[in-house]
Amino acid sequence: DPVGDGAEGGHMHREMLDQPAAAERVLRGRLDERFGTAHLGGLNMDARETRAIRRVKILGCGSAYYVGQMGASLVEELARIPADAEAASEFRYRDPVIEPDTLYVAVSQSGETIDTLLAVEEIRRKGGRVIGLVNVVGSAIARACDGGIYLHAGPEVAVASTKALTTMFLGFSLLALQLGRTRDLSIADGKRLIAGLQALPAQIEEVLKSEDQLALVAARLAEAESLFFIGRVRGFPVAREGAQKFKEITYRHAEAYQTSELKHGPLALISPVVPTVAIVPDDELADRNVAALHEISARGGPLVVVTHPDVDLGDVRCERIDVPRSERELDPILMTIPLQVLAFHAATTLGLDVDKPRNLAKSVTVE
Ligand code: AGP
Repeated sequence: DPVGDGAEGGHMHREMLDQPAAAERVLRGRLDERFGTAHLGGLNMDARETRAIRRVKILGCGSAYYVGQMGASLVEELARIPADAEAASEFRYRDPVIEPDTLYVAVSQSGETIDTLLAVEEIRRKGGRVIGLVNVVGSAIARACDGGIYLHAGPEVAVASTKALTTMFLGFSLLALQLGRTRDLSIADGKRLIAGLQALPAQIEEVLKSEDQLALVAARLAEAESLFFIGRVRGFPVAREGAQKFKEITYRHAEAYQTSELKHGPLALISPVVPTVAIVPDDELADRNVAALHEISARGGPLVVVTHPDVDLGDVRCERIDVPRSERELDPILMTIPLQVLAFHAATTLGLDVDKPRNLAKSVTVE
């Protein structure tokens, strides 16, 4: 039994299954249903200071960077503050301009990733304000920041991050909600988001229940030497994270691409031996996404489509994975979970040590 206690992959499997509970922990005591907002006392910022923020810059490495991209979308959509994410490992080396009205956000499970820590120190040296979204209490990054949000994911042992990422996404949701409610976000929209957040733990549980179906799909994906993960706008960081997880533990070549960019090059690689995992939420881009699926299908490319029950995929031949509908802004997290399960089962099918993939350490503490 590859997923039993103490067996190979046991940590990652347990950590995936702990996600509904971890989601509850990060939200607990931080939602204000009456005023449709979040309370994050650890930010150490009053309403006047949060209203003065003109830009949000998120820094993290690897999967934390990809969740940071999801977080940037949340901040832009809910708070209408320009936001982006950058790999902390690159940021420091391009002599970045540090602006006083930018809120810098460092995101890290371990709180010890050297590239992220050095980026925080550089920003603070130049007078910028940094908050941390960190899991490990009292870690170096948590101590180096001006304030922050602890993620309460609990200990994460497997190298491939799962529950920490889910709590990072929720941490960004809380941050975006609080920033939004000190600006233009209406109380009705705040309450809508809160209801959506409160529904997530049970919805994550529901996605995890489809593990048996996902394991069958994963066994087929494991046969491919090379795969694409595609998505656009909110779906693109999901694709990046899906590809990262897959290559990290299966050692297969998995490349993330914007669905809209396929026709500008990589469509040339699509063939019956190159499967594509596509992220197709029920949103304003669904029709365009489905048109891209037809292009792939027409070239014989095997398809796995992570989507919502109402999306009409027409006659596209694919393995369909439906996840529950959530509030649109929160869709990325429910679409990320099946990709973790696919990577996990593809790796166990291949007989690999899921918890300790070759060449990788749980946290990268030297440059
Ligand atoms: C995630 O599955 C990876 N192991 C890796 O990309 C990780 O997210 C990255 O090294 C950042 O780690 P941190 O969150 O501890 O800073």
